[in-house]
Amino acid sequence: MQAIFTRRTVFALAVSLALAACSKSEAPAASASAAAPADKVMVAAANANFAPFESMTPEGKVQGFDADLIQAVAEKGGFQVRMVNTPWEGLFNGLNQGDSDLVISAVTITDARKQTMDFSEPYFEAKQLIAVRADSGVASLQDLKDLAVGVQTGTTGDEVVSKLQGKTSANIKRFDTTPLAMKELESGGVAAVVGDNGVVGHYLKNNSTTQLRLVADDTAVPEQYGIVVRKGNTELLNKVNAGLQAIRADGTYDKIYTQWFGDAPVAAAAASTAASAASN
Ligand code: ARG
Repeated sequence: MQAIFTRRTVFALAVSLALAACSKSEAPAASASAAAPADKVMVAAANANFAPFESMTPEGKVQGFDADLIQAVAEKGGFQVRMVNTPWEGLFNGLNQGDSDLVISAVTITDARKQTMDFSEPYFEAKQLIAVRADSGVASLQDLKDLAVGVQTGTTGDEVVSKLQGKTSANIKRFDTTPLAMKELESGGVAAVVGDNGVVGHYLKNNSTTQLRLVADDTAVPEQYGIVVRKGNTELLNKVNAGLQAIRADGTYDKIYTQWFGDAPVAAAAASTAASAASN
């Protein structure tokens, strides 16, 4: 009897047993696995050099408005999420290749991006601001036409300056992160930086080693940040939108906003309107 069990038959037996086990216990789950298994932890990628939206803690964790927001959205939307830090230029490729499931990185919703990715409902309003050294004479975007200007590569700031100077202008200095562009402004390598208001403003307040000031241009178009999923991933997108709606309704959004920006959203909007009215 024992002799009959050659290695081969034992192997074959094991395989058929395993298959039988699989077909029994996993067959019903197979349809669900086309969608995401319920316990899968979604990976949300951000370029964590963009405080206060995303930056790294000394312990190597992603923190910021976006990090808190996506946790709260996930909780209400019924999924689990963890954040990873990714270079800006790899963010969307990584999403498409499945390295991540979501991108939350202060990403502006644009028509061009909508061709290749899906966006949630808008979750934050922003605009481009010009940062210059305090003694600069720059008063508008037009004044940057022939100046060396720093931008973060491939951002909407890059787009604005590319439109002004031409995409291939040698005066556009492109950096991997916005803080690197700001450092170049401080050291005199560029005459200005064009970037998202919240982030250049935060840098001025918290990191600046030189006297800088901000210039708002009247022609700046309002931008909206959205959470990004792979094109066609409506299952996750619906959860994200449901989560967003729920945290707006129950006050969680305002709480997170206040934590990172110091003022409730409505009050902040009113204050910035008052400030720009005062400066006009
Ligand atoms: N809002 C701008 C854009 O979408 C800049 C975003 C940069 N985000 C970042 N985490 N570095 O192009």
